[in-house]
Amino acid sequence: MYIENDTIQIHYTVRGSGLPVLLLHAFPLSGAMWEPQRSVLEASYRVIVPDLRGFGQSSAPVGISTMDVMVDDLQALLRHLDLDKVVLVGLSMGGYIAFQFLRRYPRQVQALVLAATRATPDTDEARAGREAMAVLAETAGAASIADQMLSRLLSPNATAVVQAQVRDMIMAADPAGIAAAVRGMALRYDSTDLLSSIRVPTLLIGGEQDALTPPATMQAMQNAIDGSSLTIVPGAGHLPNLEQPEVFTTALLKFLQRL
Ligand code: MLT
Repeated sequence: MYIENDTIQIHYTVRGSGLPVLLLHAFPLSGAMWEPQRSVLEASYRVIVPDLRGFGQSSAPVGISTMDVMVDDLQALLRHLDLDKVVLVGLSMGGYIAFQFLRRYPRQVQALVLAATRATPDTDEARAGREAMAVLAETAGAASIADQMLSRLLSPNATAVVQAQVRDMIMAADPAGIAAAVRGMALRYDSTDLLSSIRVPTLLIGGEQDALTPPATMQAMQNAIDGSSLTIVPGAGHLPNLEQPEVFTTALLKFLQRL
């Protein structure tokens, strides 16, 4: 299904019924990365999975996909579905978007799951790297981004099947969408100060072998969020939900069941 926001077609799926759970995917993947979780959660929850603009089956934007623009898309989707409150689950870029959602619409967040993400903004060096990646996407296409990203996203333990799934998702992204999102991430705010104001139940999940958002980064966020808990998924890289789906889904389910 699709909604239109700001001339962009946003593709999404809604499955199951019960407490609404909104799953926000990582860069440069798509909602398809949540399949292992969606297939389990949909038995007990209303699971909403968008393809963020420029990714999966959503259309490509013009300009920069700031985290604010992504939040505007999500607000349009929630209005369309007539939902006031959701459990927000964001992995990596999905987590950056979750922070911005929380900043702007705190009353709409019933509970929060922050997976393989960070509250800190980019350094100047990281911003320069983002711009280089945006230009690479625009000039050489999604395959070159897949070549660059795969080994950063996955641990050496990732199976060939998971590697192929992740490559396929990256290849489905529009190069303009990749460039727009990577430039948007470079502009994201520092959310460090937001952490101590979080009052909703919060679960953090990280991958033991994640070099992008390592366990120490996840631990620092847990220390800053009152009453939160942290699960580190053994042997997993930056996409623990795909590399160790059972461990990830079990942690998520346990958290949801306590709400
Ligand atoms: C992601 O997985 O969403 C990205 O690696 C996040 C980032 O590049 O900061």
